[in-house]
Amino acid sequence: MQDLSITYRTTFERRPTLKDAVLRLGRGERAVREVEAVKHVSFDVPQGTVLGIVGSNGAGKSTLMRAIAGILPPTSGRIEVRGKVSTLLALGVGFNPNLSGEENVLLGGLAAGYTRAEIAEKYIEIAEFSELGDFMDMPMRTYSSGMFSRLAFAVAVHMDPDILLVDEALSAGDAKFKAKAAAKMAELVSEARTMFLVSHALGTVKDMCNDAIWLNKGQLMLRGTPEHVIAEYTRFVKVGESAYTLEDM
Ligand SMILES: Nc1ncnc2c1ncn2[C@@H]1O[C@H](COP(=O)(O)OP(=O)(O)OP(=O)(O)O)[C@@H](O)[C@H]1O
Ligand SMILES: [Mg+2]
Repeated sequence: MQDLSITYRTTFERRPTLKDAVLRLGRGERAVREVEAVKHVSFDVPQGTVLGIVGSNGAGKSTLMRAIAGILPPTSGRIEVRGKVSTLLALGVGFNPNLSGEENVLLGGLAAGYTRAEIAEKYIEIAEFSELGDFMDMPMRTYSSGMFSRLAFAVAVHMDPDILLVDEALSAGDAKFKAKAAAKMAELVSEARTMFLVSHALGTVKDMCNDAIWLNKGQLMLRGTPEHVIAEYTRFVKVGESAYTLEDM
């Protein structure tokens, strides 16, 4: 990833004030707001890395993940991804809430380019892993958020990804499923797959990752071991931005 920047451009109708409304007969004004969500970020990730990504709300973590997933094109700079990416993003997972879990898995498999026979085989593994039982026949809108994330995780890890992107998606799982998910991720890592894990659970990042970055307001603040990055990020949050200096940046 080299010098990656992503800017969101949002146009919205500015709400007319009462005076404006009277003067201009209620016509709203179009305003444009630009948000530079990721600013000149460069880093490389060797195969087999489990990269933790930490940072405050709005730091640009999910934006970065969407860019790696190819959902969001870079505004400038470039990303090079080698291998098949499987995503588990908290927002925008491609499930249709009106279809059952089973139908969603079958459709997702077809969309991912698997044959019917391959999907049938994978479906058994996915259903078993997610432990949703009869709920696989129910429309996904009837799922609890934990059930939803169990199925999303089961699908993502069974699609034979070279690179797995996980964005806060495990936060809804219960303790038992979290442990199971962690074991599955460790298994994928042992097969030299690469993983990106965005999480506010700093303990999880410390336990599962072997490398980490910290984003702040779209900028890459630090890259290092999870222990070091989390220690610095935590210090930054405690002392506040103005008092913070990072000697070796
Ligand atoms: N679709 C969008 N359109 C416009 N602005 C957006 C959009 N998505 C995110 N942003 C803005 O981009 C910035 C980065 O957002 P992003 O979702 O990447 O943060 P994050 O690090 O994932 O935060 P969180 O920890 O809350 O998940 C924020 O200022 C946000 O308001
Ligand atoms: Mg996010």
